[in-house]
Amino acid sequence: MSRPTLYISRLLPDSVMTAARQQFTLLNEPSEAVPSREAITAGLREADAAICTLTDRVDAAMLAEATRLTILANYAVGYNNIDLAAATARGIVVTNTPDVLTDSTADLTWALLLAVARRVAEGDAYVRSGAWSGWAPTHMLGTDVWGKMLGIVGMGRIGQAVAQRAAGFNMRICYSSRTPHARGQISSQWEQRAMPDLLRDADFVSLHVPLTPSTHHLIGSRQLALMKPTAFLVNTSRGPVVEEAALVEALLQRRLAGAGLDVFEQEPDVHPGLRDLRQVVLLPHLGSATLATRVRMGMICLENITAVCAGRPAPNQVNRAQT
Ligand code: DGY
Repeated sequence: MSRPTLYISRLLPDSVMTAARQQFTLLNEPSEAVPSREAITAGLREADAAICTLTDRVDAAMLAEATRLTILANYAVGYNNIDLAAATARGIVVTNTPDVLTDSTADLTWALLLAVARRVAEGDAYVRSGAWSGWAPTHMLGTDVWGKMLGIVGMGRIGQAVAQRAAGFNMRICYSSRTPHARGQISSQWEQRAMPDLLRDADFVSLHVPLTPSTHHLIGSRQLALMKPTAFLVNTSRGPVVEEAALVEALLQRRLAGAGLDVFEQEPDVHPGLRDLRQVVLLPHLGSATLATRVRMGMICLENITAVCAGRPAPNQVNRAQT
């Protein structure tokens, strides 16, 4: 029996590419470059299975041409880049990569939180510039993290992992979540709040919601106005969850102390106002970016594809309920 044909939109870590070559006939040798819409469309049209990344927008028109495609494995936990309804209507299984990136993303959230509160990026740039003339009692004073209140918007896997890490900083946790958590499912010390109350009370607000129509601009000028002027916003979820122009405005007017951002509304473009602000730390969407995690994400994609090509259910299907 001939091996299924696999389209991979972007170069994945070596061990994933090796495994993919061993198990499938690769339609293409992917590169690090972002593929054009035409290239993705052709890949989806000609392959039995595909791995796409969060930067690949896969819409209904593209899926309409994907007549032999059985599975689209998204190399991410979020799948807002795919028209799920269109895939479902065509019987294409869509999968994601949950769990394996939870801890890496939670770690990076903390890296941003600490960096923005303790002015880590700014301090690093200062030392490198050669301008540092020595220790001073009043120099580059930041904000304590320990003992403060951390507000988590979206208490899913990553939100919970971020909250767990706060124990070492003796922080209070409050959270808002649309999904009810059964008693005993999450720590009883974490206080559930309505989002406006969380925004009013938290010293650090960290966002962990998926991007959906209802979370688009979840944090805009009204929500930012509720936050304390001493508070910090951290976003490692999806850029469009925050209305960037409103965030820039709040930061410029000192209605917010700072922000740590790993994701942006129009990646890779960054609102020019953000680049000029020293009270923000900006990262190029590194949430899951450790070698081990990116390998595990690739292996999960391959496992899902193997299952579907063998006629078995995909372990991480996200459109299961509708197919
Ligand atoms: C995801 O999987 O959604 C992450 O953003 C990838 O880094």
